[in-house]
Amino acid sequence: MKAVILAGGTGTRLMPLTSLMNKHMLPVGKHPMIFYGINSLKKAGIQDILLVTGRHALGMFAQYLGSGSSFGVSITYRVQEEAGGIADALQLARPFIAEGEKFVVLLGDNLFEEELRPYVESYALQPGGAMVLLKQVNDPERYGIPSFHSSGIIERIDEKPKEPKSDLCVTGIYMYDSHVFKLIEQITPSGRGELEITDLNNIYAKAGLLTYRKLTGWWTDAGTFESLQEAASQLSGKYE
Ligand code: DAU
Repeated sequence: MKAVILAGGTGTRLMPLTSLMNKHMLPVGKHPMIFYGINSLKKAGIQDILLVTGRHALGMFAQYLGSGSSFGVSITYRVQEEAGGIADALQLARPFIAEGEKFVVLLGDNLFEEELRPYVESYALQPGGAMVLLKQVNDPERYGIPSFHSSGIIERIDEKPKEPKSDLCVTGIYMYDSHVFKLIEQITPSGRGELEITDLNNIYAKAGLLTYRKLTGWWTDAGTFESLQEAASQLSGKYE
């Protein structure tokens, strides 16, 4: 299977650090943030990776990762000209994914300890639709939050709800097949002017085609100073 890492965006919650450097190149323990996602994918047996980032950050990523060979992976790059949202960045992966092919999408600021392989294998066996990974959090208003049908399936996801219906959040680890690119064509920019991944996932949820698994290990979205610090303390020492 292939993977797409999304590492664009503006990183406003990490200003002023991100006025100097793309969020995903900030240090987390011994390595830049992006290292951990690449390492997780490699451990799951995924070597063919597309990295999407902004024009200004591309040079630094290329300098650090190069072809990916020294990390045991192969990296292809695409530029997102404007931070038009996660689903906007995802649509740049269209030429990278063949018709009918399944793939993993990782938000570059998501850091976690669990092995991805069992989830990827489980999605590979799924006949169609998409899969998301959920995690229990203390601050659900920061994330996409699912509500569940009495049968247990995801009914819909609310993005950063003021009154969250659950303390399970949708993490930035998603699995799709190439059909997703047709669905991105159906969504329109949200109030904040972005093509939202939650709107995309809600198309699957509405059709009853959004499956999920729950992460049990440590997970964070390192998009704030607090979570960046937590990630550094969780991960330092674990990776040479
Ligand atoms: O971390 C999980 C959460 O990620 C989910 O629960 C939310 O549903 C989802 O919308 C997202 O929320 P965030 O507010 O954390 O998204 P953020 O804007 O921080 O972007 C997350 C990643 O996506 C970041 O690592 C960079 C990438 N990105 C983002 C934008 C807006 C891009 O590559 N291009 C973009 O235009």
